[in-house]
Amino acid sequence: PAVEEAAEFVRSKADNFVILGIGGSALGPIAVHRALNHLYHNDLPSEKRKSPRLFVEDNVDPERMAALLDVIDTDRTVFNVITKSGSTSETMAQLLIITRMLIDRYGEEGLRDHLIATTDKQKGNLIGIAKKYNLRTFIIPDGVGGRFSELCPVGLVAAAVGGADVRALLAGAGYMDELCSNADVKRNPGLMLALLEIIAAEKHGANIGVLMPYADSLKFMADWYAQLWAESLGKRTDNGGSVVHTGQTPVKALGVTDQHSQVQLYTEGPFDKVITFIGVDKYRSEVTIPHSFDDIADVAFLSGHSFNELIKSEQMATEYAVTRSGHMNKTITLPVVNPFTIGELLYFFEIQTAYAGELLNINAFDQPGVEEGKNATYALLGKHGYDEKRRELDSAKPKKAGYIF
Ligand code: PA5
Repeated sequence: PAVEEAAEFVRSKADNFVILGIGGSALGPIAVHRALNHLYHNDLPSEKRKSPRLFVEDNVDPERMAALLDVIDTDRTVFNVITKSGSTSETMAQLLIITRMLIDRYGEEGLRDHLIATTDKQKGNLIGIAKKYNLRTFIIPDGVGGRFSELCPVGLVAAAVGGADVRALLAGAGYMDELCSNADVKRNPGLMLALLEIIAAEKHGANIGVLMPYADSLKFMADWYAQLWAESLGKRTDNGGSVVHTGQTPVKALGVTDQHSQVQLYTEGPFDKVITFIGVDKYRSEVTIPHSFDDIADVAFLSGHSFNELIKSEQMATEYAVTRSGHMNKTITLPVVNPFTIGELLYFFEIQTAYAGELLNINAFDQPGVEEGKNATYALLGKHGYDEKRRELDSAKPKKAGYIF
């Protein structure tokens, strides 16, 4: 109910909902929004748009922040700052900009009307800020890392603001949890597909995993999945401390678009990948191809068919070509894209990743490699307590002058 209440508040007050966050705090909300809303949601005229425009600010490119401020009217905007650690530099830098602007315009007492916080109950600085300014606050449960957090308030608030039935989303996840709890691997899709990926990677050299949805609505599901798989499984050491350097490299593709970009490589290139197609049985629109040039046989054969048939045929044809050339692949089919099936899909990928971590005997839930980069950034920007790291960076080998043009 708290999620639905907050969403109601945002929907009644705002034309724009802006997420400040990065990594797991951004990719899930983007993926779900794209899956469940109009594909050109932000461009719809306001009378046709049923929910606020969504902007997810997951970069600190100055041009992007400037561009955002050009297109939103802050009077009609609610921001949701999301950070599990409460300390990520990118997110905190964005927060500094936005709070300064909001306080200057609406005073400290006005901040609550424009800013929601989602963070850990005690770690980091955001929780203190949230309490100080009495912000609507959502707590990310203990033990839920960023990339596994889409089905908690990190993702649910944005989904509810967009008008999604979050109860159906959670019901889908719950259903998948039941399926993926089965001890029989043949009846447990999460365990089965984790096992197949690991066998493909470890025994057959498939170091690359391509995720290729045949649906524009699922395009950003591949981005979300890429982070989940890469950050969870890309590890230097296993649970026993041995150096293992595990991890299959995730690659994002989109059917049919990338048939004209990557599929040549997938059919004739090296046998170093598994391709996972995602199909949709019933698209939410039906588009028929009319008769426009019946006198040109090479074009006229398309007339009378639909885009629905075309995309399905192209998916089948690509699966056939990839299989025929001996490249490993599999297909996940959603009956339709809706909150229930998206909940299922999100949960499926999360549990598959967790099982894969167990099979590899690594910790799928930490990200020491990312922490290293975060610490180096703190040192470069002079954060207190990072002097030693700064000295280490200053003494790092410079790039070879002979290769700088
Ligand atoms: O999956 C993760 O834990 C990371 O990708 C984080 O989501 C990302 O680093 C952002 O961290 P935080 O939510 O603490 O700001």
